[in-house]
Amino acid sequence: MLKVTNLNVSIAAVHILRDVSLELTPGSMTGLIGRNGAGKTTLMKTIMGILKPGAGALSFDGKDLRSVETHERARLGIGYMPEERRLIPDLTVEENILVPAWACHTADARERLEKVYGWIPELRDMGYRKGLQLSGGQQKLAALGRALMCGTRLLLLDEPFEGVAPVLAQRLAQVIGALKREGMTVVVTESDLQHSERVVDRIVQIDRGAVVAS
Ligand SMILES: Nc1ncnc2c1ncn2[C@@H]1O[C@H](COP(=O)(O)OP(=O)(O)OP(=O)(O)O)[C@@H](O)[C@H]1O
Ligand SMILES: [Mg+2]
Repeated sequence: MLKVTNLNVSIAAVHILRDVSLELTPGSMTGLIGRNGAGKTTLMKTIMGILKPGAGALSFDGKDLRSVETHERARLGIGYMPEERRLIPDLTVEENILVPAWACHTADARERLEKVYGWIPELRDMGYRKGLQLSGGQQKLAALGRALMCGTRLLLLDEPFEGVAPVLAQRLAQVIGALKREGMTVVVTESDLQHSERVVDRIVQIDRGAVVAS
């Protein structure tokens, strides 16, 4: 489904990703594990088109992504949950979740929203609350719901468990596990295997910008 080949990415003239190759099969759950600064976020941003590779290839369903803009990648069904939750504080949770529907031209945003509420019923209950009124863990749930608006096929979840209380982390793992049963392809990053181990079926380890084990 997603194929990354010998990807090289530099940020501010510093070479960050080195010959990263990765293949995701449909319905797979991959844990991208690496310590701080290993390049996990850089890889996700490059898959999303926020960062441009200096060299290497990137394709989705055989389609070359290199000339495809970020919003067009969202339209292909790729959802992204950034490391920083970036909820819009003055918008309600429901409005925050609906924001990407405009970008990815969801045919029936309301129907998709109902699906998201079906997977994460907590979001319906907190839907009217403002983004700034949520705890860190609740914001992670909302950010996951938002990623699911466009993420109908591939979900990129950057550190979903980071800084989340144990009960909510368990709940997040449960939701992510349920998405696998829906046939969704998911990549989860974490610095270690603490929470992702119970949801992933494959681990890719990254260190200093290179894949060191798979
Ligand atoms: N805007 C930037 N300017 C300069 N260097 C950057 C920038 N963003 C990231 N880097 C560098 O790129 C490398 C990879 O960073 P990245 O954020 O991808 O790591 P990460 O694996 O996501 O780490 P973390 O676990 O802390 O989120 C690091 O050495 C980092 O310092
Ligand atoms: Mg990161």
